Amino acid sequence: MSGGGEAAAIGAGQQPGDEAAAEQQQQQQADGEQKITPWDVTGGADGKVDYNKIVSDFGVSLLQQELVDRIERLTGRPAHPFLKRGIFFAHRDLGEVLDAYERGQPFYLYTGRGPSSEALHLGHLVPIMFTAWLQRAFNAPLVIQLTDDEKTLWRGLDQDEARRLARENAKDIIACGFDIGRTFIFSDFEYVGGPFYRHIVAIQRCVTMNQVRGIFGLTPEDNIGKIAFPAVQAAPSFPGCFPHIFGDRKDVKCLIPCAIDQDPYFRMTRDVAPRIGYDKPALIESRFFPALQGESGKMSASDANSAIFVNDTPKQIKDKINKHAFSGGGATLEEHRARGANLDVDVPWKYLNFFMEDDDKLAHIGREYGAGRMLTGEIKGELIRLLTDIVARHQAARAQVTDEVVDAFMAVRPMHEALATAGRRRA
Ligand code: TRP
Repeated sequence: MSGGGEAAAIGAGQQPGDEAAAEQQQQQQADGEQKITPWDVTGGADGKVDYNKIVSDFGVSLLQQELVDRIERLTGRPAHPFLKRGIFFAHRDLGEVLDAYERGQPFYLYTGRGPSSEALHLGHLVPIMFTAWLQRAFNAPLVIQLTDDEKTLWRGLDQDEARRLARENAKDIIACGFDIGRTFIFSDFEYVGGPFYRHIVAIQRCVTMNQVRGIFGLTPEDNIGKIAFPAVQAAPSFPGCFPHIFGDRKDVKCLIPCAIDQDPYFRMTRDVAPRIGYDKPALIESRFFPALQGESGKMSASDANSAIFVNDTPKQIKDKINKHAFSGGGATLEEHRARGANLDVDVPWKYLNFFMEDDDKLAHIGREYGAGRMLTGEIKGELIRLLTDIVARHQAARAQVTDEVVDAFMAVRPMHEALATAGRRRA
C-alpha cells in the first residue's frame, strides 16, 4: 500500500537490523497497532490505515477546503481531482507558501522516488502526476531526487543495478510531462558532492542517533548508512543544494508533494531548518494508493499481482482487475441487487476515485453501484477501460523519452531562468 515510499518487501531479513525491525513490526501488528514509516506501512487491528490517527500522531494539518479554494484562485485553474477528492489530504505550512506566492515570491517543488523496480506502478504515479500539475499551475522550478543510495542500503540492491533503475524510473517520471526548463532530476550516486554534500553534513551534525531512533525506529543494529541517510533526503529541501538553479539565494521556499509515509523525513528536516539558516519546507501529503487486494493488502513492486504497472499489457490489466481487485459487491446477484455494493472496501471504486477525471460520471457510477443497480463486472469494466487508456498513453509518452532526454533533465546546467520566470504570471 505504498505511495511514494516502497513500503512492502523491504527488511526481508538480509541483515540483523532488518530482522529486529521485522520483529518489532510483528509485535506491533500483534498488538493491532498501526505503523507508518517510510519503509513500512501496516494498518491497525482491522488492517486498515486510520488517517485521523496519522494526522494526530504526526501532527500534520488537514487540508481544508479553504486552501483548495485558494489554490484555485491563485492559479486560475480548477483544482486537480487529487485535491478535490481529498487524495492529497494533509499538509504542513501550505498556507505560508501560498502567502509568499501571493506576495510575488516564488517557491520551488521537491519530490523523489526510490528506484526499486523496473517500472513504476499506479501508486508511484500519484505524487509524480500531482507534482507535474503543481509545476504547471504555479510555474515552479522543481527538483526530483532519485534515491539509488537508499535502495542499496535498504534492499541490498547492487549499486549498478540501482543506478540503472534510477535512469529507467526517470523515463517514467519524465513521461508524466515535466517542463525541461524548470526541472532538475538527480540521482544521489551522481549528484552528492559539492554544495549538496555540504548541506548533508550540516544536517547530520544537527541530528543525534537518539533522534533517528525516535523518528524512524532505526536501531544500533541497522547499518550506519541507514542511520546517516535521512540527511540525504532532507537536504534537497534547501535551495543552497542547487546553486545552478537558485544561485546563492537561501530564501526560496520549498514545497514537497509526497505520500504521507515520507513525513518522518521532513519532520526531521523541519526541526533542523532554522538551525542551519533556512525556512522549514512545506508539505502536501497524500493517502496511500491501495493494493488490488484491498486496503489491508500491501502493494508491492515484488508482487506483480498486487499492483498495476505502467508497463503492463492490456491483457495483464484486464486479468489483474478481474481476478484480483477486491470487490465490495454483494456475494450473490440477489444480495447485490438488494443491498448494493460496499464502496468503503471496493477497490475498483477506489481506483476510479483516483483516476477518473469526469466528476459527473464518477458520481453516477458511485450511485448506481452503491445502490446495486450496477454490477461488479460493470464497474470493473469501466476501470479496465480507463486504466488501459492511461497506461497506453503513458507508454506512448515514455517511448519518446530517449537516453538523450534523460541526460538533458539530469544535467547540472544553468537554470536561473526557471527562478527568474517563476511565480505568478501578472496579467
Ligand atoms: N524515499 C522516497 C522513496 O523511497 C524517495 C524520495 C526522496 C522522496 N526524496 C523524496 C519522496 C521527496 C517524496 C519526496 O520513494
